[in-house]
Amino acid sequence: MRRFAEQGYQLEPGALEIIRRYPGSMHDLVLRIIGGLDGSVAVILASHVSSCLSHAEAGRSPFSIPLRKEPPESDNLKLSLDSPSASAAELKCDITGRSTCEGGYEDFVRYFRDRYSRIREILSRRLNSRPIESLGKSTSGREVSLIGLVMDVKTTARGNRVIELEDPTGMVTAIIQKDAEIFEQSSFVVPDEVLGITGVSDGNGRIFVKSLLWPDMPNQTEPLEKGSGCALLISDLHVGSKYFMDDAWRRFASWLNGDVEDPSGLAALVKYVVIAGDVADGIGIYPGQEGDLAIKDIYEQYEAAAECLNCIHKGVTIIISPGNHDIVRQAEPQPALPEAVQKYFHGDVLFAGNPAWVTLDGVSVLIYHGRSIDDFVLRVPGLSYAAPEKAMVEMLKRRHLSPIYGSRVSIAPEREDHYVISRPPAILHCGHVHTVGIARYKGVAVINSGTWQSQTDFQKKMNIQPQPAIVPIVDLGTMKVRKLIFA
Ligand SMILES: [Fe+2]
Ligand SMILES: [Fe+2]
Repeated sequence: MRRFAEQGYQLEPGALEIIRRYPGSMHDLVLRIIGGLDGSVAVILASHVSSCLSHAEAGRSPFSIPLRKEPPESDNLKLSLDSPSASAAELKCDITGRSTCEGGYEDFVRYFRDRYSRIREILSRRLNSRPIESLGKSTSGREVSLIGLVMDVKTTARGNRVIELEDPTGMVTAIIQKDAEIFEQSSFVVPDEVLGITGVSDGNGRIFVKSLLWPDMPNQTEPLEKGSGCALLISDLHVGSKYFMDDAWRRFASWLNGDVEDPSGLAALVKYVVIAGDVADGIGIYPGQEGDLAIKDIYEQYEAAAECLNCIHKGVTIIISPGNHDIVRQAEPQPALPEAVQKYFHGDVLFAGNPAWVTLDGVSVLIYHGRSIDDFVLRVPGLSYAAPEKAMVEMLKRRHLSPIYGSRVSIAPEREDHYVISRPPAILHCGHVHTVGIARYKGVAVINSGTWQSQTDFQKKMNIQPQPAIVPIVDLGTMKVRKLIFA
């Protein structure tokens, strides 16, 4: 009953008796009871507890967001457990054929509720939080913790940081004074992410923050899964662009097919090639693109892309996920390439959406084209296109691939938030920024796979230096990553 005391509540003996007899998870029950109280309650009565239990039995939660009984990752996990001998590439989860979005206001509300409840679940393992509506006068001067979605974050004229946080029960203003120890850390807060805070309540809708908590990855040094063989991670071929590096691609394909001498012996170990989007250059993606195209018909671009991949020997499985240049809807999450172009590709090809969870030889790979890296670089201090892996680590810390809503990434508000990183993948693979970045973060191999397009005129003007024709190769047994250079 310490939990209630910590949150500033007293328990009436009748309430205590009912709670003691409750057969289910005590943690969930405590959250449910506290979540169901209005701000004026200081003593929890038996009637509060029984009304909470009757809500729960009727399948409803006093939260406007229902409590999940199982972690959201259970679906994926179950799928993986069902196929323990997985030796090939399998698609575990993506949006293809499952879009529910109609773009109405209700869709947005539901989308953000799903984001909130899934990330809150991760945070609540480490933070004993209370609903915002319970921060009434009685909490004045007391230390409280809560989990909220960042509605706004700004720096005031006086130099303090102000974060507006919302949960399904209300809103609160979190203040970080400019001389506070955590002030610098608070510059990493981005809009629309879900965050935990602890601070002193003024009993009047404001909290003076003492600490910030991001959901983050569990502390692990190695992924749980192990496979065999190697996977090559590539992206951003931009076939159809006059900057597509035909020669480099041919060198890569001959190496992979064993047509040239390979002192490393690695080519023979490759079982998978994963492509994280921008397979073709597309048509009308940016103003003036016409002048940059070698192939001006979108279908011919895919025929040419298929030729590039069809020449890879049949022992290699190819996984293709789309990007913002590809022939699928621009709003993310994106479905797999349409059948009209799938038919050009022969051999063992798995078409996935963006983002997509796949397993390679049982090893989980989260593929995301990486458009949100644009948003991260704009908003988070210390990030740049030269080190895309750092932006990807920010995704892992937030357990979300694209938290900032309504900026560069156009996100369709689906019923489920497909961007929540509900469990740690063994590999996080992105592209989009045309630079190569490799890191390991809490056991996750973080890899951005560069491009096959040389520097465009536009990139030259913008002083953007792409790193083309570099291929990260992952040993699925040891998770060691190396770079192969075909430039
Ligand atoms: Fe690209
Ligand atoms: Fe892209």
